[in-house]
Amino acid sequence: MKVLEAAEAYARAELGGDSGGHDWWHVHRVRNLAVELAREEDADRFLTELAALLHDIGDFKLSGSLTAGEEAARRFCTEQGLSAEDTDHVAGIVADLSYKGAGVPDAPLSLEGRCVRDADRLDAMGAIGIGRAFAYGGLHRRAMWDPEEAPRLHATETEYRSAKGSTIAHFHEKLLLLKGRMSTDAGARRAEHRHGVLVAFVNEFMAEWDGEDGRG
Ligand code: ADP
Ligand code: NI
Repeated sequence: MKVLEAAEAYARAELGGDSGGHDWWHVHRVRNLAVELAREEDADRFLTELAALLHDIGDFKLSGSLTAGEEAARRFCTEQGLSAEDTDHVAGIVADLSYKGAGVPDAPLSLEGRCVRDADRLDAMGAIGIGRAFAYGGLHRRAMWDPEEAPRLHATETEYRSAKGSTIAHFHEKLLLLKGRMSTDAGARRAEHRHGVLVAFVNEFMAEWDGEDGRG
């Protein structure tokens, strides 16, 4: 329990103030969801919960480094006295979790890693996912939608990371694809409903954009 408490304190301190979708409450939701998926999937609860708590520390979007997250997780686990095996496991999950573009396959992960990844992705879907996407878009001064700029299915991580498209484009470039990229059954079941919320939102958004909503 001590280790999880320390991980929570670490995540709260590191992520507390970010308003671009990576705040502490994102980690809180991912932790709860990941633990629930782990229970249904018979994954190791402790390692799942720990990786969920550490998963966004040193994230590329906040640190600008692709390895800072893994390094921070490794340092934390070592300081907490975890075995080398558990440290490698948790740091490996943190390293390979993130979405890297529509055309970039997901890294193979342990069952615990897949529970955390699915939980992280579920939090980018549904009503919360819509809220986070527009919070991120606003923070980065992105247009909500630009009809003159088609969404792009990025083939490489570099392309995906440097994209500056509209927030609705991001739905097509990532959020609407997440349902097809769940890697646990428990996650896939939850993704069905959240995906439906995204689809209904985008359809309504486009109808309003074109002034075609609410016509008798
Ligand atoms: P991951 O956890 O898979 O690495 P990201 O760090 O890319 O995910 O994204 C975190 C949150 O920010 C998600 O809710 C995501 O939808 C949102 N986000 C990321 N990039 C964009 C963007 N270009 N426009 C709008 N929202 C974005
Ligand atoms: Ni996350």
